[in-house]
Amino acid sequence: MISSTSVPRSRRRRARRPLRAAVATVATAGLAVTGIVMFSTTATAQADTLGAAAEQSGRYFGTATEAGYWGDSQYTSILDSEFSSLVAENGMKWDATEPNPGEFNFDGGDQLVERAQANGQAVRGHTLVWHAQQPGWTAGLYGDDLRNAMINHITETAGHFAGQISSWDVVNEAFEEDGSRRQSNLQIEMGDTWIEEAFVAADAADPDAKLCYNDYNLDGINAKSDGVYAMVEDFLARGVPIDCVGIQSHLSTESDLSTYQANLQRFSDLGVDVHITELDVGGSGTAQADVYRTVTEACVAVERCAGITTWGFTDAYSWRGDETPLPWDANYQKKEAYTAILDALNAAAGSNTGQGSEPATAAYEQTARRESPLVAQLA
Ligand code: XIL
Repeated sequence: MISSTSVPRSRRRRARRPLRAAVATVATAGLAVTGIVMFSTTATAQADTLGAAAEQSGRYFGTATEAGYWGDSQYTSILDSEFSSLVAENGMKWDATEPNPGEFNFDGGDQLVERAQANGQAVRGHTLVWHAQQPGWTAGLYGDDLRNAMINHITETAGHFAGQISSWDVVNEAFEEDGSRRQSNLQIEMGDTWIEEAFVAADAADPDAKLCYNDYNLDGINAKSDGVYAMVEDFLARGVPIDCVGIQSHLSTESDLSTYQANLQRFSDLGVDVHITELDVGGSGTAQADVYRTVTEACVAVERCAGITTWGFTDAYSWRGDETPLPWDANYQKKEAYTAILDALNAAAGSNTGQGSEPATAAYEQTARRESPLVAQLA
């Protein structure tokens, strides 16, 4: 399994430039001697899968998947060869994992972990707490009853998968577009502290996983990403364990990406990793490929951008219906988008990544944990 700590620092940080120079020298020599341009020499420096191409800069390239798709061998041959990380499209959500109070079903998640481990792939966890896809029974819970149910759900779920998850989306989609908190049952019943309580519980249940806040429309510097930024800044200042921000990136050819990289950079500078967690791009052809290229180039340019996950990989199975948003078409043919991603990853071989940073737990143990009234309250 490729975990955040299993990639040796020396490999992650190896320089690309000397290799490029060597290739150029050989090509030039070939040209001088034979008069033939040696394109093949240059080609050998290029990885030919998304996972291998991303690995050259210490990053992962993943996809969302689900056991329900695995009966199709065209599907699984791409799944097993192209990606270095998997995430369950639905199988680890609250409604799937705890259909009745205190009754857990981890079958979907377990199958995904097993397949990933058999193929040397990492696993992202998605998602412990979200206003959507809750089991029906949480709608009848108020105040501390909902709080206790949430904490128990996190403890059991993150505990079950402990040691197998590279990073968890602990909390999903808790902000409105204006940067305020979404008025979900979670926010209304538990008040402002519910997000940090979720992170504290996840940290206790799986101290080795990186813990992420994940949301959509964080694709630039805007009111919503400002709100998330302020929360992360506050968490770091108070020692609440948070390691990363997930930028979902459900995009289209109309998306304004003018501050996309700057937004990744400001979170990186703040001291958390960033993950592109659910990338898909409605559209087609060169316009679609250009968006994929822009996102990939932004990630590899930002040291703490740990990797990219696309929300599926073939248009045959996408939650966005007929928007053809993925890098393979419905007949498993690679689209222009695929080549754009692969080329951008290959061009970044040797650049830095934030994946080697420690989970927040280490710093947290030394500072806030002992004194935190929140931890005392939950203990
Ligand atoms: C989607 C799945 O792809 C669908 O199969 C399901 O019906 C609804 O959820 N943001 C998220 C993901 O965080 O969990 C969502 O996944 C897509 C939007």
